[in-house]
Amino acid sequence: MTTMTTPTPPNQNAKKTILFLGATGGVALSALRRSLAAGHTCIALCRTPANLTAQLDHTTWSNLHIIQGDAHDASTLHACLRTPATEDGKEGGRVVDTIVSSLGAKPTWKGISDAHVCEKGMVALLEALRRRRAEDGDGDGDGDAARGKKVVVPRLVAVTSTGISDVARDVPLPLMMLYRALLHTPHADKKAMEGLAVAAGKAGEVEWTFVRGSLYTNGPETEGLVRVGVEDPVKGVVEKEAMGYTISREDVGKWVFEECLEGDGRQWVGKAAILTY
Ligand SMILES: NC(=O)c1ccc[n+]([C@@H]2O[C@H](COP(=O)([O-])OP(=O)(O)OC[C@H]3O[C@@H](n4cnc5c(N)ncnc54)[C@H](OP(=O)(O)O)[C@@H]3O)[C@@H](O)[C@H]2O)c1
Repeated sequence: MTTMTTPTPPNQNAKKTILFLGATGGVALSALRRSLAAGHTCIALCRTPANLTAQLDHTTWSNLHIIQGDAHDASTLHACLRTPATEDGKEGGRVVDTIVSSLGAKPTWKGISDAHVCEKGMVALLEALRRRRAEDGDGDGDGDAARGKKVVVPRLVAVTSTGISDVARDVPLPLMMLYRALLHTPHADKKAMEGLAVAAGKAGEVEWTFVRGSLYTNGPETEGLVRVGVEDPVKGVVEKEAMGYTISREDVGKWVFEECLEGDGRQWVGKAAILTY
């Protein structure tokens, strides 16, 4: 018999509210698990919530808010962007601090299930953010945007991919054939998503970080194996090179958690992080 206990997350003061898109998949699930355990307030938008709860150790996290819906629907996202009220009586309603977007499509015998999954998700997310800002910058009901007051700009951590850089090759030569032959469609989708986020960043709507992993494995998290390259896609500069073949979804999610969610993450704003072993 399995006993289900309700974990008590650490003190939620100074903790973030994070919206996860794609948390039934490996990378976002790894980041979500760690964020829950660290006591952050987590909102997970899922088409099928049971697909998420089946993968969590505990189904009763008090800091987890699961919303059922489609990440291509701006109205659904608009609702997800609001912080929930906390158990200790803090009022909700602000814009979330950070959004982790890790949407992806599934391979099918015809190609992939949704060739524009990331691009459509970004269009909807930016539309939802614009609606929130037009209504009220920080969602506290006092009409900041209308009064010209500075509005809250959330962080966006978008999980994209290696092999799409316009600046430099970040994939070993032997993998290039595979990337070109099999991954052209999802890579075009990721490029479109990144382009939308960069434009929104220039307009002051989000502070983005791109997370570009090499080929994913389902392996466990590791210590000391992950190499991190850094690119500034706007300036077109490689700040640090890292090129490799694989990385586990678990390690990508761990990096997202440690660097962008638990930590301040400011050093990664406007950068693409290349993660590989
Ligand atoms: N495979 C690789 O080697 C590789 C390498 C680098 C980067 N990447 C990219 O990294 C990202 C994360 O990959 P992953 O393997 O961790 O995740 P994944 O297994 O591809 O999961 C994708 C997630 O997106 C969700 N999703 C898709 N469309 C949605 C929609 N319309 N509304 C709501 N949710 C939606 C899925 O939910 P459902 O449960 O509802 O399907 C799932 O949670 C993907 O974009 C992937 O392409 C992959």
